[in-house]
Order: sequence, then C-alpha cells, then structure tokens
Amino acid sequence: MRRIAILTSGGDAPGMNAAIRASVLAAHHFGLEIIGYRHGYNGLLEQEFVPLGPEDVNNIIQRGGTILKSARCEAFKTAEGAKQAAQNLSALNIDALIVNGGDGSFRGALHLAKYWDGQIIGLPGTIDNDICGTDATIGYYTAIDTALESIDKVRDTADAFERIFLIEVMGRHAGFIGLSAAVCSGAEQVLLPELYQQSPPDLHQLAAHIQKAQEVRGKCSYIMVITENLWPGGATDLANKLHATTGIECRPVILGHVQRGGSPVSLDRMLASKLGAYAVEAILAGKTGVMIGEQNHNVVEVPFEQCWGKPKALDPYLVRIQTQMFDLFNPPA
Ligand code: ADP
Ligand code: F6P
Repeated sequence: MRRIAILTSGGDAPGMNAAIRASVLAAHHFGLEIIGYRHGYNGLLEQEFVPLGPEDVNNIIQRGGTILKSARCEAFKTAEGAKQAAQNLSALNIDALIVNGGDGSFRGALHLAKYWDGQIIGLPGTIDNDICGTDATIGYYTAIDTALESIDKVRDTADAFERIFLIEVMGRHAGFIGLSAAVCSGAEQVLLPELYQQSPPDLHQLAAHIQKAQEVRGKCSYIMVITENLWPGGATDLANKLHATTGIECRPVILGHVQRGGSPVSLDRMLASKLGAYAVEAILAGKTGVMIGEQNHNVVEVPFEQCWGKPKALDPYLVRIQTQMFDLFNPPA
C-alpha cells in the first residue's frame, strides 16, 4: 500500500480544510494511507503528524483555518533542514507529499526535492491569489467577500457622516483582493501595486480626485481601497496626509487578518474539493513537482517553477472599467 502525507504552510486560507478533506477522501477511495503533518514544514522536521481517515475530516469543509495548523519555518530553508525532513519522510515510508500553501511553500517543496526522491504535489492555498498558473487560489474568493462585507458596512457610516474612508486590504504585493473588493463595493478610488510600479501615487492628485468627486458626483462619502505594503505607513499615514491636504476628515480602516478567517464561500469549497481530490489522482499517475491549479474551469498541472517569477496579471478589463467609472477629469467620449 502507498503512503502519502499532506501539510498546510504559510498564510492560512479559507478552504484549506476543504482541500484536506478532499485529499483524505480521495486517498481513502483509492486505498492509500494518508497522514497529516502539523505546523507546516515544522511538522516535517519534528516528525509531528497525525493519521488521517474519513472520520477525521467530518464537518470540516465549512471551517476556516486548517485542522493541521500552519506555520512558517526558517530552519527548513537550510540544507540541513531539508535533509532532516527528507530523512523523516523516508523513515515513515512516505511516497508522496501534498503541500498546500503559497509560492513560498512551493519554493520549499522544490528545496525538499533536492534531497528527497518522493513525489511532491502543490495546492495553491493563499488569499492573495498571487500564484501564476491558476485562475484563483484557494481562499481568495472568501477573502474578497470578507473585505466586501466590511466595506459595505463602512460605506453606511461614511455616508451618514459624509466622510472619506481609506480601507487597507491584504494581498502582500498583489492587488487581486483590492481590485475585486473595489469593483464590488463601488469604491471611488483604488490603489494597487500593479498600477504604481514606476512611481508611487501622487498625494495631490489623490486629494484632487476626492474633491472633484464631491463636486461633480454629489457624493457625500468616498471610499478608497488601498493594498497593504503600497504606501509607506499604510492607510493611516495616507489618511493623515490627505486630511492635512484637503482639510476633509479621512478615516483609515485596516481590515488585516480578518480576511484570512471565516467559513469558505462556495467557490472556494468547490475549488478546494476539485484540486484536493485531483492531487491524489496526480500522485497515482506518477506526477511530481507540479501545482494543481484551475484554468477556465479545467484542472491543470503547472510545474512549480512556473508559479512565480513573472507577476500574475490583474484582469485588464476590470482595471479599465474601475478606472473609467471614476475618471472625473476627462470629458465623456
Ligand atoms: P507562503 O507559502 O504563504 O508564500 P511563506 O513565503 O512564508 O508563505 O513560506 C512558507 C514557508 O515555506 C517558509 O516559512 C519556509 O519554511 C518555506 N520556504 C519559503 N521560501 C523558501 C525557500 N526559498 N527555500 C526553502 N523553503 C522556503
Ligand atoms: O499571504 C497571506 C498573507 O495574509 C498576506 O496577505 C499578508 O501580507 C501576510 O500573509 C501576513 O502574514 P502574517 O501571518 O505574518 O501576519
């Protein structure tokens, strides 16, 4: 009988449990034994694992977080760390490992492959959606909805007080959550890293946009979505500077880790179930060194090296319509 292992690593994402469940049930279906390493790559170094059977994944499809826990692990990055992990996997007769995490975790998988000859399959688990080769990552859709729910609430009070709000969303260095949340919430402005690669946003232009919106749209509230790591000092610093420039009250709201939690939405459960099950089938087919992703509703296998390197592009049409909806300075075509 073949033995496989699964772990979750890096920033947790809603749907990781759904993916674990799908892999465990698929393994059971195909007669494979499966164990779960706990705390990401730390579990590999410490031999911290639990056997996983169908009974262990009851009622987890709807739960955020990960039953296997997640973590980051500096020690694993060294050659000694990866050799130790390889030895531990061999000691347990593991034939294949499923790594559910972001691009950092996939780099870790390639690092391990230098010292271990078992199969390694990746599942894209991160709210940031910053992994190339898959249209969406597990957790991304839930993070959008979580951000959106908060922005809708902020809009109510912004409207009541006729205020400007700056909402800082996650995404690490990518604007996927920011763009989607801005489009869906009707935000008047969105600051995404992809749009400011050459130069940072200009404070005076931002201030002028706020003032123009109030002048021509009769808007009494104004929402600006800003991706984390874009403005030095974040939304709080930018809000202070805009207040000083416009004289209009600007309030920052930092959504933070709330975006990583919560029950996964249906699209994340569907994606996680599909990819989690397929990971096991890929192992049975002898695959290794690939991430299982989804493109145009088809499951695809993408070599780890192709998952990063060039930045994943935002949907240019969404960017254009978001921009033109609030292009207040140019006369209509
Ligand atoms: P994510 O998987 O969400 O991108 P990280 O970038 O924090 O999260 O990576 C998770 C873990 O993967 C790290 O703590 C480390 O153990 C491992 N890892 C990341 N990058 C590398 C690398 N270049 N070489 C080896 N291991 C890595
Ligand atoms: O990668 C997911 C993510 O939540 C990013 O959006 C964010 O920049 C980072 O992780 C936060 O990480 P930490 O767990 O170290 O706070």
